[in-house]
Amino acid sequence: MRVAVLGATGLVGREMLKVLEQREFALDDIVLLASERSAGTEVTFCGKKHTVRAVDDDSFKGVDVALFSAGGSTSRRWAPIAAASGAVVVDNSSAWRMDPTVPLVVPEVNPEDIRENKGIIANPNCSTIQAVVALYPLHRKAGLEYVSYSTYQSVSGTGKEALETLEAGSRDVLAGNEPSGALVYPHPIAFELLPHIGAFGEDGVTDEEWKMVRESQKIMHLPDLRVSCTTVRVPVFRGHGEAIVAKFRDPISPEEAREILRNAPGVDVQDEPGASVYPRPRYCEGKDAVYVGRIRRDTGIDNALALWVVADNLRKGAALNAVQIAELL
Ligand SMILES: NC(=O)c1ccc[n+]([C@@H]2O[C@H](COP(=O)([O-])OP(=O)(O)OC[C@H]3O[C@@H](n4cnc5c(N)ncnc54)[C@H](OP(=O)(O)O)[C@@H]3O)[C@@H](O)[C@H]2O)c1
Repeated sequence: MRVAVLGATGLVGREMLKVLEQREFALDDIVLLASERSAGTEVTFCGKKHTVRAVDDDSFKGVDVALFSAGGSTSRRWAPIAAASGAVVVDNSSAWRMDPTVPLVVPEVNPEDIRENKGIIANPNCSTIQAVVALYPLHRKAGLEYVSYSTYQSVSGTGKEALETLEAGSRDVLAGNEPSGALVYPHPIAFELLPHIGAFGEDGVTDEEWKMVRESQKIMHLPDLRVSCTTVRVPVFRGHGEAIVAKFRDPISPEEAREILRNAPGVDVQDEPGASVYPRPRYCEGKDAVYVGRIRRDTGIDNALALWVVADNLRKGAALNAVQIAELL
């Protein structure tokens, strides 16, 4: 089993290496790939130093599984080449997710979809993954009809440069200065809330919002599911939060939902009504579960529940989900 990681120097790529190591993924050989910029960098994997190489036409020869986390355009270029070399690509970018010939997989929800792959399997958007892990078990019980997402997404969802920008900007503001650092977002992110993730479409909806709508429908096999969404970038380093309102066909109580989610794969319920017990990003950092709390009846819609869902976007939202797909393969 030869595994390649393209984007091995990035936030997600490094987390993939950590997850492969922690889960003792049965591989014989690993190939670390990135751009020319970091070719020659040494990265330690399983106690051994490996040299990162710039991706080229020969990179995927003899590779069985290629984990990609190097952005959409890199993926559009190299995934077909890797697949033609005989590798199965598990891709973290949004390049292939809505291609009808490409399965979009969350192992706790639609593992059987990987069978239909033609050499590329897409890993969903980080915010979509944690939402469907929490919603799907409730859907199976009560029939999901409508969902509203409001997201609180950390800067690590944007990559390594965004972490530096938040850190530098926060120090500047605390020192009484204007935030500095690379302008990764349209505005500085330190001490800010930006309701703007991805590009705006003509309809005023962002790419990220459409991803959550369409990917939720595709993964749960609910093409007619109605979805509302507002995605917001928040000055948190790691871990995404989501306030979700979900309307069901059949009545479902908060007690039933709690019980279903306690037994659901990949979910950890942190909920004690009346007490200050609920999921928080700093607690979830480096952990694998999708944490669910604040489970209650929605105050405005019948047969609807309100939930608060948090997960580590670099683990379940990206690296862990990709490695779980590789394990299924
Ligand atoms: N962060 C998240 O929570 C998250 C969640 C889900 C999906 N994703 C997706 O995962 C991908 C990577 O995200 P990230 O957060 O890890 O970004 P990042 O920290 O900025 O890292 C990007 C990685 O891609 C490599 N790369 C960039 N351009 C390349 C090129 N032309 N050829 C080869 N390698 C190239 C970089 O290599 P160099 O070191 O050589 O520049 C680096 O290893 C993106 O598609 C992102 O949308 C991220």
